[in-house]
Amino acid sequence: MSLLLQISDTHFGTEQAPVVEALLQLAQRERPSLCVLSGDITQRARRAQFDAARAFVDRLAMPLQVVIPGNHDIPLFDVATRVFAPYRHFRRVFGSALEAEVSTADFLLIALNTTRPWRHKHGEISIEQVRRVAERLRRADPAQLRIVVTHQPVAVPNAAETNNLLRGRMAALREWSDAGADLVLGGHIHLPYVLELRQRFADLRRRLWCVQAGTAVSSRIRAGVPNSVNLVRFDRAAWPLQCGVERHDFNAVTGEFECVERHELDPDRGARTTQG
Ligand SMILES: [Fe+2]
Ligand SMILES: [Fe+2]
Repeated sequence: MSLLLQISDTHFGTEQAPVVEALLQLAQRERPSLCVLSGDITQRARRAQFDAARAFVDRLAMPLQVVIPGNHDIPLFDVATRVFAPYRHFRRVFGSALEAEVSTADFLLIALNTTRPWRHKHGEISIEQVRRVAERLRRADPAQLRIVVTHQPVAVPNAAETNNLLRGRMAALREWSDAGADLVLGGHIHLPYVLELRQRFADLRRRLWCVQAGTAVSSRIRAGVPNSVNLVRFDRAAWPLQCGVERHDFNAVTGEFECVERHELDPDRGARTTQG
């Protein structure tokens, strides 16, 4: 059994200290083996905000961690940096790579940079990214849970959010579904949900899910939507495969993150996979 912690939209600069401490406690309690920060790490891509984010990640002390930028991690008002070195501050703190891949016994996780400095907040996925990810997914171990991470969502729960969708998502979903993706993790809109994508897009040939995290620790919450993170539980030894996606909300009364919703997903291995 392995456990993945998804943290998104921390927006350091607007973080709430008690929520940060509660999240560190949750991580200590659950001891995930892999942690992914799916963008909008900072509020305005400032040096001090990245330093605070780095200190937080260091305190999390995960065995494996993946961090990708969100649109807020590119300077908005500092036009020179935005044009000539948009990821300078991100790279100083988290290293030069803007994308990452982690392969363990239980997980294949591919995290992509979907920010585009010229697009302001809108995200985009290129044909090159779509194909590269599909090619890697095809080489996955059949018993691995295959996860792609983008900052902006590949699906939204209502029409009012349409403008926030990742550009290029449909080509990506078709190719990644065929290639074996199980989950596409995202953030960006501070709204947690899980959607089975084949129920929305009938031309997809395999089941896969959009798993969205809310804002983990920021005060930039929506009305009625508290801070939240996701925990993904997966055991390659169980057959048929099963994956639990838990949403943990911050409870301001108890001062702790608590599991408020759990989805049991059944990754689609079709007839191609045999369990030996
Ligand atoms: Fe955000
Ligand atoms: Fe964002």
